[in-house]
Amino acid sequence: MKKIIELKNITKSFDGETPVLDNINLDIYDNEFLTLLGPSGCGKTTLLRLIGGFETPDSGDIIFLGDRINDVPPYKRNVNTVFQKYALFPHLNVFDNVAFPLREKKLPKEEIEEKVLEMLSLVALKGFEKRSVTRLSGGQQQRVAIARALVAHPKVLLLDEPLGALDLKLRKDMQVELKKIQKQTGITFIFVTHDQEEALSMSDTVVVMSEGKIHQVGTSVDIYNEPVNAFVADFIGESNILDGVMLEDYKVRFSGQTFQCLDKEFMKNEPVDVVVRPEDVDIVPVEQGQLTGVVTSVTFLGVHYEIIVDVNGFKWMIQTTDFVDVDERIGIELEPDAIHIMKKSEYSNLYGDYSSFSNELDELSEVEEEDEDE
Ligand SMILES: Nc1ncnc2c1ncn2[C@@H]1O[C@H](COP(=O)(O)OP(=O)(O)O)[C@@H](O)[C@H]1O
Ligand SMILES: [Mg+2]
Repeated sequence: MKKIIELKNITKSFDGETPVLDNINLDIYDNEFLTLLGPSGCGKTTLLRLIGGFETPDSGDIIFLGDRINDVPPYKRNVNTVFQKYALFPHLNVFDNVAFPLREKKLPKEEIEEKVLEMLSLVALKGFEKRSVTRLSGGQQQRVAIARALVAHPKVLLLDEPLGALDLKLRKDMQVELKKIQKQTGITFIFVTHDQEEALSMSDTVVVMSEGKIHQVGTSVDIYNEPVNAFVADFIGESNILDGVMLEDYKVRFSGQTFQCLDKEFMKNEPVDVVVRPEDVDIVPVEQGQLTGVVTSVTFLGVHYEIIVDVNGFKWMIQTTDFVDVDERIGIELEPDAIHIMKKSEYSNLYGDYSSFSNELDELSEVEEEDEDE
């Protein structure tokens, strides 16, 4: 695969003190759907603006197809941006909005017409050419903005939370639509979101960030199954994160028991973080359980139940299709591939069990009960 953009040791701060981006290294490839994912304020927009040329790094290099472009202005970069607030021209109709970048380039009239119609058909807005953009729905306006950004065929399209303003149903539709457009055009998309589900469902590559740093780069499946540390495990999906000790290759001890796992090459007796996803826990009869616990809450979520189980004071979240009752004692079994071992990190003790989760639920139900009393 051909590298399009290389970010090398990028550092950026605004006040000269706390770095907003801290030594960012990332390779971005041709025809890739890459997503920058992280909590609000972690530096996603700043990184995108650096690639677009709207900011310059304090140190480090931005390489575009082999050339250093740190000081190249935005309009000379083969990159285009779709912002969350898609600034369409309200006085122009759909056709003229999309044609705008081509007219700026003084392309011949016939060529403009051909390219605009091709783009409108790509974003499923054929027949809307003469419609005023002010009479379009949010989703349609967003598609016009995307068509306008793509019409001059940039090498790279930057999208900063472009679906943030849309309601859930439309957002899901546009996710599918955007993915399709990316595959059809072969243009590299660099997409920003703080929504992990959106990132996992759309991306070839997910880049997990927090506090100006990249934690992990990988496919959605890699990031979900093999999180590098407790931050990533907690941020991507639901995770039970336990303190453990790696006794030897393939053998880990936690919750007072020894388990078989698939991990190796840790030091003998190295302290580790153990992550177990809620859907990977098997519920078994008490006498067969490697661990046993008492169910403290049960929530039905349509396809499965989400239950909280107290195992010697540690509260596990378990997703199951078996029905269990509150206060029931159950056995838990973990297959070796349900257990994933992570190195200890600065995030180790920040995340763990679901005691606060069930407390929140308890508090909520208490509030509701109080309301009912009134
Ligand atoms: N122009 C600016 N001046 C000062 N601080 C900024 C500026 N732009 C962003 N920041 C700060 O940089 C940090 C990262 O912001 P941003 O890149 O917008 O994060 P994200 O897009 O991940 O929410 C935040 O703390 C934000 O307040
Ligand atoms: Mg942002």
